[in-house]
Amino acid sequence: AQKSIHIQVYPDSAQRTISKHIYGHFAEHLGTCIYGGIWVGENSPIPNNKGYRTDVVEALKKLQIPNLRWPGGCFADEYHWMDGIGPKEKRPKMVNTNWGGTIEDNSFGTHEFLNLCELLGTEPYISGNVGSGTVEEMAKWVEYMTSDGESPMANLRRQNGRDKPWKVKYFGVGNESWGCGGEMRPEFYADQYRRYATYCRNYNGNKLFKIASGASDYDYNWTEVLMKNIGNRMHGLSLHYYTIRDWNKKGSATQFNNEEYYWIIGKALEIEEVLLKHMAIMDKYDQQKRIGLMVDEWGTWFNTEPGTNPGHLFQQNTMRDAMVAALTLNIFNKYTDRIQMANIAQVVNVLQSMILTNNDKMVLTPTYHVFDLYRVHQDATYLPLNITPDLVTIRNKPVNTISASASQKNGVTSFTLANIDVAETKTVTIDVSKLKGKKLNGKILTAPNITDHNTFDKPNTVQLADFSKGVLKNGVLTVTLPAKAVVLLQLQ
Ligand code: AHR
Repeated sequence: AQKSIHIQVYPDSAQRTISKHIYGHFAEHLGTCIYGGIWVGENSPIPNNKGYRTDVVEALKKLQIPNLRWPGGCFADEYHWMDGIGPKEKRPKMVNTNWGGTIEDNSFGTHEFLNLCELLGTEPYISGNVGSGTVEEMAKWVEYMTSDGESPMANLRRQNGRDKPWKVKYFGVGNESWGCGGEMRPEFYADQYRRYATYCRNYNGNKLFKIASGASDYDYNWTEVLMKNIGNRMHGLSLHYYTIRDWNKKGSATQFNNEEYYWIIGKALEIEEVLLKHMAIMDKYDQQKRIGLMVDEWGTWFNTEPGTNPGHLFQQNTMRDAMVAALTLNIFNKYTDRIQMANIAQVVNVLQSMILTNNDKMVLTPTYHVFDLYRVHQDATYLPLNITPDLVTIRNKPVNTISASASQKNGVTSFTLANIDVAETKTVTIDVSKLKGKKLNGKILTAPNITDHNTFDKPNTVQLADFSKGVLKNGVLTVTLPAKAVVLLQLQ
């Protein structure tokens, strides 16, 4: 039987903007994310623009990605940026020890990344090497990218073909410094942060936004120690959260039953509790909410696709991943007073990606379509809302079957709704009496099976469709929300 669920929107309490940077992405030198996925080189038979895959660049432009984090991840703490500049034939090769022992030829380096950002119209977010790099190396990288003066690094950049500096705002001082980034204790990292961050200078009007390497999941002590010791020296603090069930048995990305589906959904929803706890610690030291919480890695992490290099983290992406993306983004939208950025891991061919490629073929994933739907929230005014509970128990916790966000931009009110139930349609009513607009438009992402996904042979199994099951009458919007569906409704 269908149950009626009500959403109350509070447009009068709308105060905040949802930073577009919540919709950020991540590209690591890992598997075929960079090489093959984004970069094929100018001489490749795969259609490209100066070495960047045309199909991938076009798809990413459509998503209006606000920022791109690079070069890692774990890779960042073994990356020596000077190996990736200058004539390509002279660049040394290295072994990517974190990710499958692949040979990295450094043909994609600082210039190639920052030029890609310009091509995409996206802001770069650079991760600096604290784990195995020196203070000098990091300081020089910042100088190389951003100095316009008469300085050794600016001159080297000019010699390598780039006259004007790039604009680089977001700069990460290390990554997972408690793990692959150096196995440090939080107290030790806090001291290291002081040294490294001191020499990351602001050149010629470029103002760095320095991000400290933050905790993973439930490590609240890391956040506490960093806030206490270096809270006054950072602009942002990161957090990583993946929906992993068991590190040794992550489960198939495409073959799972309903129990496995709901477990992952429960874990995805649990990020709200985790965020609240980290944010409470941040509030203790920073009541003005000056420091941003940057969830700079998040998403699903399943077994790699059979037959692929296990170190390359190439995984398929189903309607389940789409649900995880929708639920997580609805949660981030709620807390943008503290959350200033988030980066799903990763953009192409790695973990919960937007795009999968295989040689010259490309396919958009269900997660891509969710990001496409949710673009409307970027830099929009957040409308607080309340949903009457329609609860199910997952992982011994009550969770709501319906997740929603609302925002306003340019006179249009946008609702993104998700129904996690695999079987049941839900009827949702939304009080829109205080909102302007009579014209309703809708789009939906759903599929017959929760395991459905797009392949190179069948790229459109899961795709967006027009949605007309929203009816506007007497200030109430009634939506018939199919099972396992993500919907965008726009009122104007
Ligand atoms: O995204 C894959 C890896 O996950 C990153 O390199 C690392 O930071 C995290 O552990």
